[in-house]
Amino acid sequence: MTDFDTSKLSWDEWDELQNPPPAETDFDRVVERAISRRGFLGGVLAFGSAAAAMGTLGNLMSSTSAEAQEAASRFQFKPVAIATDNTVHVPEGYSWQPLAKWGQPLFSSVPDVDPAKGVSLENSDKVFGENTDGMELFVIGGHQVIAINHEYVNPEINLPHTEKGVPQSADDVKILQNMQGVTVMEVAEGENGWQIVLDSPFNRRIHHNTPMTLSGPAAGSDLVKTAADPKGTDCLGTFNNCGAGRTPWGTYLTCEENFNGYFGSTDANFVLPEDYARYGITAETRYAYEKFDARFDVSKNPNEPRRAGYVVEIDPSSATSTPVKRTALGRIKHENAAVVVARDGRVVVYMGDDERGEFLYKYVSNGIYVPGGDTSMLLDEGTLFVAKFADDGTGEWLALTPETTGMKMDEICVFTRQAASKVGATTMDRPEWVAINPVAIEAYCALTNNSKRGVKKNAGGDEMPVGGPNPRAENEYGQIVRWYPENDDHADGKFKWDLFCMAGNPDVHKDAYAGSSNINSGNMFNSPDGMMFDTTGLLWIQTDGEDTNEGNFAGQGNNQMLAGDPATGRIERFLTAPKGSEVTGQTWSADKRTHFVGIQHPDAPFPDGEGKLPRSTVVAIKRNDNAMIG
Ligand code: FEO
Ligand code: CA
Ligand code: CA
Repeated sequence: MTDFDTSKLSWDEWDELQNPPPAETDFDRVVERAISRRGFLGGVLAFGSAAAAMGTLGNLMSSTSAEAQEAASRFQFKPVAIATDNTVHVPEGYSWQPLAKWGQPLFSSVPDVDPAKGVSLENSDKVFGENTDGMELFVIGGHQVIAINHEYVNPEINLPHTEKGVPQSADDVKILQNMQGVTVMEVAEGENGWQIVLDSPFNRRIHHNTPMTLSGPAAGSDLVKTAADPKGTDCLGTFNNCGAGRTPWGTYLTCEENFNGYFGSTDANFVLPEDYARYGITAETRYAYEKFDARFDVSKNPNEPRRAGYVVEIDPSSATSTPVKRTALGRIKHENAAVVVARDGRVVVYMGDDERGEFLYKYVSNGIYVPGGDTSMLLDEGTLFVAKFADDGTGEWLALTPETTGMKMDEICVFTRQAASKVGATTMDRPEWVAINPVAIEAYCALTNNSKRGVKKNAGGDEMPVGGPNPRAENEYGQIVRWYPENDDHADGKFKWDLFCMAGNPDVHKDAYAGSSNINSGNMFNSPDGMMFDTTGLLWIQTDGEDTNEGNFAGQGNNQMLAGDPATGRIERFLTAPKGSEVTGQTWSADKRTHFVGIQHPDAPFPDGEGKLPRSTVVAIKRNDNAMIG
């Protein structure tokens, strides 16, 4: 654990500190390689190599004149400049208002949060949780219902009576547990703009103690049985809910990311099981749950962390439905779950595992989706694949099966990272969201950054060589990889790929770290993370990166949201966020005239103004002429 104050770090940042890769065994060799690579990247060849990785886009961008690009532009907004202040900025002709803020009631019996007192235990499962993340809007019987994640909490805000938010009691822990998870809430637009519909029968909080079931190959396995659940099928809570997804049958998928941080040991002599290291499960936790809630004490319940790290399916149409952890989709640090129906009706789910040098996954169901038919087994029975990229712009999906891994099916679903290492998947630069283009057969993944690319191994000891879709050593800017399934079929085992963009800073660098040719002084950013397409086929890119606006990040300002045009590669900035925050999670109203966007962990007194506590907030953005966005 570090000595400095980690309470202001996002959970991704905290986990990076908490979970370094294993010590390098061949130090000299690695240092030598890193030095020679830096030399290589500094030269002319480096830019050539990066440009080669740009594939078709590199050619497209260089052969398209600025005028032709202008003519082909489908952006309906004037880009915004960077910002370094404490509020949200959107283009001229657009406006924003808060829809839901940390601590805001979902029911009329609950008062709005008093920042000085925090949220009471009694109310903590009846309010909008903290640190908003992935979200989806569903239209259910004419009602607009948003399901939305609360990734983690800033404990000092939620427990103002404690020193730096360190829980002092089981009740303190319960408050923190209740303020995370998922909110399901009805929303409506009236004279005063968008509001939460208080007391709607859809309104619901799902948190760290909500009963749910395990399904798929790991359900009932000895690996997930506990004293409280000897059958290994009934668990409590969903954790570190990061990105999200939706199924064609109208359910919400919430994705458990850095679940490792909640489990710790009260027994200093307890020897951690071997499989913990790959997932960064250590004796120390961020919130000290294990001191007051034995379920999180791995010395007493060593299988409990193996019941987290899944994609969880939630039916937003019923506030009493039981969420289901779909183990067939693997146990990783799930970013999001992007779902598409393949040509023959099978269901395909793309998923990134956000950690340095981890992998990009795809699940393909055995059965086919039939509207109105039985969908209960589509996310239980299927095959999990992991991506292997070749430098020549081709790639393949490697199946994770007992035959390819030498592991049993339950082991593949619980120790998925280890299974993927066995088949030789490509170690990636922290795969965050996957977005599927609704108007072309292609998908995109944000590779947010990887400061250790080319100098270290991943947590499983796999090399992280420079090349392919990860073309830069010590990559602090990130890139977006795009793939085109063979035969225009997302279920196909092969694909072609290129880079949609490499983020960078052309004001500071003249080599590959300047970024790809569609990055310029006016649109630059770092650390792409949240990413979704709108229904017209525009790619909306959200960032979670360095907002110092200094050094390598000079001129990039606060975190932001940009729109990208897949046809031209053009990228323009649409929104800037308050200092300290990341932009994450987005969805649209049923009429597509409102774009809902999440502002997570602001440092500044956003959105209530000076003297007020910062509140993680979902904002509703509209065009002033009420036209459609996108
Ligand atoms: Fe929760 Fe990788 O972002
Ligand atoms: Ca993220
Ligand atoms: Ca991130």
